[in-house]
Amino acid sequence: MKKLISSCLFALFFSITTQHQSVSGQQYDKLNLDSQPLSNKVCATCHGSYGVGNPIVGGPSLAGLEPWYLKRQLEGFRAKHRGNETDYVPGNEMQVSVARLSDNEIEEVVSFIATWKPVEPEQTLSGDANNGSALYASCAACHGINGMGNELLGAPALVGRDDWYMARQLKLFMSGNRGGNPDDVYGQQMRAGVQALGSEQDINDVLAYINTMN
Ligand code: HEC
Ligand code: HEC
Repeated sequence: MKKLISSCLFALFFSITTQHQSVSGQQYDKLNLDSQPLSNKVCATCHGSYGVGNPIVGGPSLAGLEPWYLKRQLEGFRAKHRGNETDYVPGNEMQVSVARLSDNEIEEVVSFIATWKPVEPEQTLSGDANNGSALYASCAACHGINGMGNELLGAPALVGRDDWYMARQLKLFMSGNRGGNPDDVYGQQMRAGVQALGSEQDINDVLAYINTMN
């Protein structure tokens, strides 16, 4: 079923992008989407209006993400450091959707997203937050004791992020699908950081603890 939804979206996405080649930041989303050309709706298809996220297609919330982090991720997808995993169509689609963006358009889309109100994430995972708290001690070195992130270290805030999305990222870091490219300096640092987690249970536990910081 997931595969089917993905393929439908893929088809929809391509029919949209072939008609309108460029997506600019100012056009990500507007109050009245119906008055906008189809291209304006491209990011919103997977990330929701005003970046609230769309769990059905695996698009995380974007509202509240630090502009410096957002920019680096868009560049990372464009450079193909991210989104290479072959078993997850939406990640590949994300790569395709930013492949067309110029540096200017990335700046525009980033400043546009910065104007949105952060969303409170829904908690979808359960784990042992006590064990998670012990595991989080190693994460705190980079992501901060309160999970608020550290720009100097390039580590984004973890509070305010969707737990299902973070679980996926932690697995991608473990497998090297994310952070495995030698040019991806920050991804490599996080790859080192994820070594503190040994199992899927550890992932659920640390995320259960991060959920308590929201
Ligand atoms: C076809 C669906 C799709 C479209 C269209 C799409 N995205 Fe994504 N995007 C995703 C998915 C899925 C992920 C998560 C990938 C993963 O799990 O590794 C993602 C991840 C991201 C991330 C990384 C978030 C983080 O916390 O690291 C950013 C930033 C982003 N998208 C911005 C955009 C912008 C801006 C656009 C429009 C130009 C866009 N996306 C269009 C599906 C999409
Ligand atoms: C050595 C520093 C460091 C440590 C330790 C570290 N991280 Fe990270 N983490 C980073 C950096 C840097 C990034 C951003 C990577 C990028 O830009 O792609 C990141 C990214 C992430 C992301 C992806 C966020 C997103 O929106 O996609 C998650 C989730 C995460 N870290 C969780 C953790 C957890 C949980 C731990 C502890 C087990 C941890 N990190 C330990 C540096 C670190």
